[in-house]
Amino acid sequence: MNEIKIGSFAHKELFSRSFMESHQQIEPEDLMWPKLDGLALERLQQIPFWEEALNTELEAGAKIDAYLPMISDPLLQDAIALMGREEAAHGRLFKYMIEHYNIEVPGHAPAQPSTNVEQAFIDFGYGECLDAFLGFGLFKIARQSGFLPEPMFNIFERLLQDETRHIVFFVNWVAYLLSSRGQGATLFRSPYSLWHYGRAVQRIMGVVGRSAEHNGGSDFSATEASVFLEGFSLEKLISNCLQENARRMSVFDSRLLQPQLLPSLAQVALSGIRLLPKRQPQATKQNLSKAENS
Ligand SMILES: [Fe+2]
Ligand SMILES: [Fe+2]
Repeated sequence: MNEIKIGSFAHKELFSRSFMESHQQIEPEDLMWPKLDGLALERLQQIPFWEEALNTELEAGAKIDAYLPMISDPLLQDAIALMGREEAAHGRLFKYMIEHYNIEVPGHAPAQPSTNVEQAFIDFGYGECLDAFLGFGLFKIARQSGFLPEPMFNIFERLLQDETRHIVFFVNWVAYLLSSRGQGATLFRSPYSLWHYGRAVQRIMGVVGRSAEHNGGSDFSATEASVFLEGFSLEKLISNCLQENARRMSVFDSRLLQPQLLPSLAQVALSGIRLLPKRQPQATKQNLSKAENS
């Protein structure tokens, strides 16, 4: 396939139109929500981050709405407005799920959008890249463990497909934006992305902290999540994130940019982890005495 010049008119047309053409409407009421009871319902209800997920989607919609009037290019404005409508639909989906399955949430309102609307949108985009990359691996591991019934994963899969389209659109849009401002080279210096990812990591740590707080620091990981956490390791998580990232990215037009920095860092981390000596199971007294007698 022909190369495309990043930052060109053709690049903008390609990343905007392919994003808009791949849109699939999500109507929460029309999804195949399974009937849950017993353990499956309890597991869904005990997951501590549903309100964070809902508020993240609502805040995303608000950040996009605040940024839209600043976008002068009609095609980019249409594409980003569509992203805003998709985030709003994701928000409605979580709200519907919380009500449908009687999930108790603490009742925090979503945060107000910052006044620096472009910076907020860029931070949001990098945050989505991080969330999606981690989400790819966690989703695969959770699905394989059968933590929830498969129809629930089919619904979350729809969200993940949208988020994958969002991050591909975002990395191309950022490259286009910087290039149109004569700052194209900035993007390809890792510190630019690293700085933004640093802010995204800070945000995600806040989410983890708040989820633990909501859960009273208690039992989720010790009990319900044990199915999910069985055999869980950092190596397994990173390798699943990488495999799923590669699989999900393979469907996009190869002329488009894809998020690069996180998969590269993850690959380095994975190689490092694989070089570490594996922890041996603790020697029991019986084994030790057998060894001494032999
Ligand atoms: Fe979303
Ligand atoms: Fe998104």
